[in-house]
Amino acid sequence: MWRDLEPIGRDGGSGGYRRFAWTREDATLREWFVAEAERRGLDVTTDRVGNQWVWWGDPDAALAAGRPGVVTGSHLDSVPDGGAFDGPLGVVSAFAALDTLRDKGFEPDRPIGIVNFVDEEGARFGVACAGSRVLTGAMTADRARSLTDADGVSMAEALGAAGRDPAELGPDAETVRRVGTFVELHVEQGRHLSTLDEDVPVAVGSDIWPHGRWRLRTLGEANHAGTTRLEDREDAMLGFAAAVIAARRAAETHGCVATVGKVAVTPGGVNAIPSEVTGWLDARGADEAAVRRVVADVTEVVEEFGGLVVEDSWTGSTPFDPGLARRLATRLGGIPVIGTGAGHDAGILANAGVPTAMLFVRNPTGISHSPEEFATSEDCLAGVDALATVLADLAGGDAT
Ligand code: GLV
Ligand code: MN
Ligand code: MN
Repeated sequence: MWRDLEPIGRDGGSGGYRRFAWTREDATLREWFVAEAERRGLDVTTDRVGNQWVWWGDPDAALAAGRPGVVTGSHLDSVPDGGAFDGPLGVVSAFAALDTLRDKGFEPDRPIGIVNFVDEEGARFGVACAGSRVLTGAMTADRARSLTDADGVSMAEALGAAGRDPAELGPDAETVRRVGTFVELHVEQGRHLSTLDEDVPVAVGSDIWPHGRWRLRTLGEANHAGTTRLEDREDAMLGFAAAVIAARRAAETHGCVATVGKVAVTPGGVNAIPSEVTGWLDARGADEAAVRRVVADVTEVVEEFGGLVVEDSWTGSTPFDPGLARRLATRLGGIPVIGTGAGHDAGILANAGVPTAMLFVRNPTGISHSPEEFATSEDCLAGVDALATVLADLAGGDAT
């Protein structure tokens, strides 16, 4: 599976992945997902949002019998120059765990599903977990359709270009109801496991930090970089730069993290004074109120310069089902239960009331959202084993 995925959307220069929602690369990944399902004799259904689902067993019959399915999976899209593992590890491991269970002759009591959530990173349209947000009603279809990418293409237009009907986009309660339990396996995005004294390749997730994205916009007046006296300038970059520094200071003050990793400058000429700067603030922390204070501090600076701050997305503190986390940790031999500052579709499902858990596979460098992201094959296989064990436990039935 890795061999097939490896070239898709890989940038020849950076070696990182550029797999954005509803692009050609995304279409190739979606075809790969269908082919993997078909190779196993399983059908793929696509929900109203475009998330892809594979079921081993009949999820509707099981639901009617009061035994809704157990779903695993993740996403296949990436951030700009993302690593190979963030997302795909969860999808590949899902298919591999299903193979493990079938090879053992396991007969599940509850159907087992595999999902590929579309547009998890929000790299193209700005809102992370767009696929699961619209699915569960956490983001309206109207808002999603109207989001635009850097070229001004709306999600509605992108859906149309990808052969989907944008009018179909909307919450899909029937699909969500089929998910009795969701378990997402993911590469660890930090170094907790690699700094432990013992050799522990897999952990269970406890919670996701509150996090959000805000658009910062400052305005000025375009003019000549050589002939305009300093005192005559209205340079949008100055207010923006002050906001970036303020974000860092506020994060330090309030015990959070804050990042401005994407900027668009108008007109964008080396020799033109910026008339407009839009940048995206990503702020997160253990405490919701503290994250809000960071944003308030930044807003104050942006507004001082006559600019504007708009919230693009917000996800509050997201605990995973504590009983489920305990069950997984115990079943896997008392492995650690750790929190994360990264967002996941699992968090959106948890907030929609689906009993949800996560498994993290050790990342020796801790680096993520970078081509340097890594996990050893040995640890990835330990992740597959852990996932198979958990699925067998949750889907009941007997391993023979
Ligand atoms: C998703 O990977 C996020 O945490 O931004
Ligand atoms: Mn990610
Ligand atoms: Mn991810």
